[in-house]
Amino acid sequence: MLSAISEPVSAPRANSIPSIYDLARILYFSAGITKEREGLEGKIYFRAAACTGALYEIELYVVCTDLHGLDAGVYHFNPADLSLRLLRRGDFRGNLAQATAMESSVAQAPVTLICTGTYWRNAWKYRARTYRHFGWDNGTLLANLLAVSAASALPAEIVLGFVDSEVNRLLDLDARREVSLCLVPIGRTSGSSLPQPRKAAELGLETIPLSQHEVEYPAMLEMHEASSLDSVEEVHQWRAQRPDLTSSAVAGEGVRLPRTLEEEQPKDTTEHVILRRGSTRTFDRAASITLSQLSTILDHTTRGLPTDFLESPATQLNDLYLIVHSVEGLKSGAYFFRRQQRALELLKEGGFRAEARQLGLEQQLPADACVNIYLLSDLARILERYGNRGYRAVQLEAGVIGGRIYLAAYAQHLGATGLTFYDDDVINFFSPHARNKSTVFLLAIGKALKRRAQ
Ligand SMILES: Cc1cc2nc3c(=O)[nH]c(=O)nc-3n(C[C@H](O)[C@H](O)[C@H](O)COP(=O)(O)O)c2cc1C
Repeated sequence: MLSAISEPVSAPRANSIPSIYDLARILYFSAGITKEREGLEGKIYFRAAACTGALYEIELYVVCTDLHGLDAGVYHFNPADLSLRLLRRGDFRGNLAQATAMESSVAQAPVTLICTGTYWRNAWKYRARTYRHFGWDNGTLLANLLAVSAASALPAEIVLGFVDSEVNRLLDLDARREVSLCLVPIGRTSGSSLPQPRKAAELGLETIPLSQHEVEYPAMLEMHEASSLDSVEEVHQWRAQRPDLTSSAVAGEGVRLPRTLEEEQPKDTTEHVILRRGSTRTFDRAASITLSQLSTILDHTTRGLPTDFLESPATQLNDLYLIVHSVEGLKSGAYFFRRQQRALELLKEGGFRAEARQLGLEQQLPADACVNIYLLSDLARILERYGNRGYRAVQLEAGVIGGRIYLAAYAQHLGATGLTFYDDDVINFFSPHARNKSTVFLLAIGKALKRRAQ
């Protein structure tokens, strides 16, 4: 797992084509049902990746050429019975290549997955906040997806540059209720096999109502519209705008993080770790983790993402800030992670469990964890360079890094949970260093409290 989340797939062969088995593995370990529990009103199902409120509003679709075991088509992934439902027969990859202005990873991929978000599945509980949950929950899912693809030696990339309406039309989405969020081309095949775009007629399929009534939150539709790309020209522009956001090296004292030897790192497989993962519900306040464990998490989760919007692994849209309660070899206090130098800069020393509780929506989890990691971003700077689409990129990147933190923690038999937070309080706590930034994501890491046998 640790290498799957941190190392790029080494130069893939000219043809690296997933079979239906590869595809099943990727889909199951990203969005499949991995756990079930008895609840008061029947079974509760949990999926492979963490998700706000366990509401699972992210859907996966497959657009592929003929694969070993699967005919060319457009499919919807149904996690309940681990099946693909055929929506369109035939090879529609040309439509995606066109919608992405011939993005090479999409044009050369035998399979592209499309991630969509269904507003109401999350908004009945979280209302308009669902819009940022789209980025978070799609991100944690993508962390798994990229890890399983890498473990299968299949190149995969997150593509955000596409004409929204064209991709929505291919899936025949009702865009007031469900929208395409990103594409993930998987594998590689020679470009010459790419077909011309085909006409995608309306499917008019009946869908099962989610509720008797749905409430529309106009703010979300407006945000989505404002961050949509309307034409191939806009996609070209978005791609040309990849800014250099490499943070300049800062002088000053920092705790350099030790690098654990490869042979001493835990070797659990990607699948084992995903099956073991679950959000920790109670942390052991008396427990601590080692500096080496924290170092492994920070190091393996911030080596860059394969995307169409980040220039190089050195570019990251989110910065990591920490509140350390209980890490052996590290003073308790607030830190900034200097990614380039792999060092932690102490911003203020002290015990901040009460503050962490307050920042994390007054929940006990961030107070009892060993360390909390906050992802903060200079949104104004990013929107200025990237335009409105940058908002989606920031949320999505944070979600993937957050998802990778989960995986890196569980790879080391630690516990973790995503958390909601009071945005401005987090910024105030880390200021003046964090001045002008926005809070994007929060993860707590520690050891689960073992329940005593009754
Ligand atoms: C972005 C994010 C925010 C979350 N926020 C909270 C939270 O504020 N409090 C909490 O107890 N759990 C939180 N969770 C954990 C989810 O409730 C959990 O992922 C979901 O119930 C699925 O369970 P699992 O992670 O064990 O598979 C969050 C998860 C994510 C991904």
